[in-house]
Amino acid sequence: MVAIRIHAGLLVLFLCLAAAGTGSLCAGAPPSPLLGIHGRSIFSRSRTRSNSMLEKKAEHPLVEYETRYFSQILDHFTYRPQGYKIFQQRYLINDKHWGGAKKKAPIFVYTGNEGTIDWFANNTGFLFENAPKFGALLVFIEHRFYGKSMPFGSRNNSYKSAETLGYLNSQQALADYATFIIELKKNLSAQASPVVVFGGSYGGMLAAWFRLKYPHLAIGAVASSAPILHFDNIVPKNTFYDIVSNDFKKASKSCFNVIRESWNDLQSQSMKEGGLQKISKIFRTCKDLKTVDPVRAWLDQAFIYSAMTNYPTETNFLTPLPAYPVTAMCEVIDSFPRGTDSLSRVSAAASIYYNYSNTETCFEMEDDSDPHGLSGWGWQSTKEYIKEPCCAGH
Ligand SMILES: *[C@@H]1O[C@H](CO)[C@@H](O)[C@H](O)[C@H]1NC(C)=O
Ligand SMILES: *[C@@H]1O[C@H](CO)[C@@H](O)[C@H](O)[C@H]1NC(C)=O
Ligand SMILES: *[C@@H]1O[C@H](CO)[C@@H](O)[C@H](O)[C@H]1NC(C)=O
Ligand SMILES: *[C@@H]1O[C@H](CO)[C@@H](O)[C@H](O)[C@H]1NC(C)=O
Repeated sequence: MVAIRIHAGLLVLFLCLAAAGTGSLCAGAPPSPLLGIHGRSIFSRSRTRSNSMLEKKAEHPLVEYETRYFSQILDHFTYRPQGYKIFQQRYLINDKHWGGAKKKAPIFVYTGNEGTIDWFANNTGFLFENAPKFGALLVFIEHRFYGKSMPFGSRNNSYKSAETLGYLNSQQALADYATFIIELKKNLSAQASPVVVFGGSYGGMLAAWFRLKYPHLAIGAVASSAPILHFDNIVPKNTFYDIVSNDFKKASKSCFNVIRESWNDLQSQSMKEGGLQKISKIFRTCKDLKTVDPVRAWLDQAFIYSAMTNYPTETNFLTPLPAYPVTAMCEVIDSFPRGTDSLSRVSAAASIYYNYSNTETCFEMEDDSDPHGLSGWGWQSTKEYIKEPCCAGH
């Protein structure tokens, strides 16, 4: 059975990483021909820093694993001599609750997505919570070209050219997972143990596709927040941004209107004499702004990612956030006295996303650090998935 769960409220990491690269589109700037890594930093170093209260809450007491490496084949498809090159693929394993091969106890495999695998494992309490009940072996496999699973040694070498990057795609990743599962089961004499694959976002797409493409290797897939229908001409172009907008509209119609007006207000303010200086002050930027574009991207990211991680409890996945961050942002926007300008309101709302830890002294608008190792996604998503974003009226 293919169990595909599409979580309508929780939006999609892979689209959003792409969206962040084109973030300014939402605010009317022309599209960049090739999405850079990100329009601005997706996850700044400073934002992952959090105070000890948050860190304690974010850590899951059940999350436990051993880190290992597996000799993986570079190219599963062409059979050219250079394709037989081997690289070390990282995986995490936890057999604490496994019932064993004799009992045909199941194997739960997390099909790694576009980042460092321990970051995802640390945020996937779901598998650790369910392992005891099912007597399951847990395995998290890192996606090639992310984290420590670099096919050509270093990251720089692996991302060097089209020659090397040609091996970064979802088909090769799925074949990696198939090769791995076959060997793991052989090693454990666990051929009779059923495998269920799990993933979220792009990793959820991989889980669903894995079940479809390798039905003899997995009896089921749990694909969470997996937009497997989000391709050309299947859903309307605006779908992603419609969902983000609706999240804010549902929280508060007036809040939604303020956010919508703020894009124009930002533009008109920036054209005034001394306008950029004023904007720098309102948004507490570390450096004086030379253009208004970084602010648009900064706001885009705050609204989109808060909608994407609008969890019901306090979390620390992308950044420390309160429970229901969308509601929290709208409460701030609506709390100002009548007549307050929209820019002050949205600045305060975005501060929830960027400064929930209370540690920021100013906001670095063009920070391009990448603590979760996600930067390869700009290249991969452009090559494999990108659709034209668009945002009129949002
Ligand atoms: C995941 O958790 C482990 C153990 O707590 C920690 O050592 C590691 O740094 C964490 N990784 C990330 C990317 O947060
Ligand atoms: C990787 O390449 C970048 C850009 O050329 C360079 O700044 C960086 O130092 C390199 N990193 C390593 C580990 O060699
Ligand atoms: C299987 O066993 C071999 C030999 O011990 C080891 O090199 C390899 O990494 C193992 N593979 C997996 C997936 O456990
Ligand atoms: C972050 O929050 C702290 C505590 O509320 C505040 O003192 C600081 O000014 C905020 N930083 C920015 C850049 O707004």
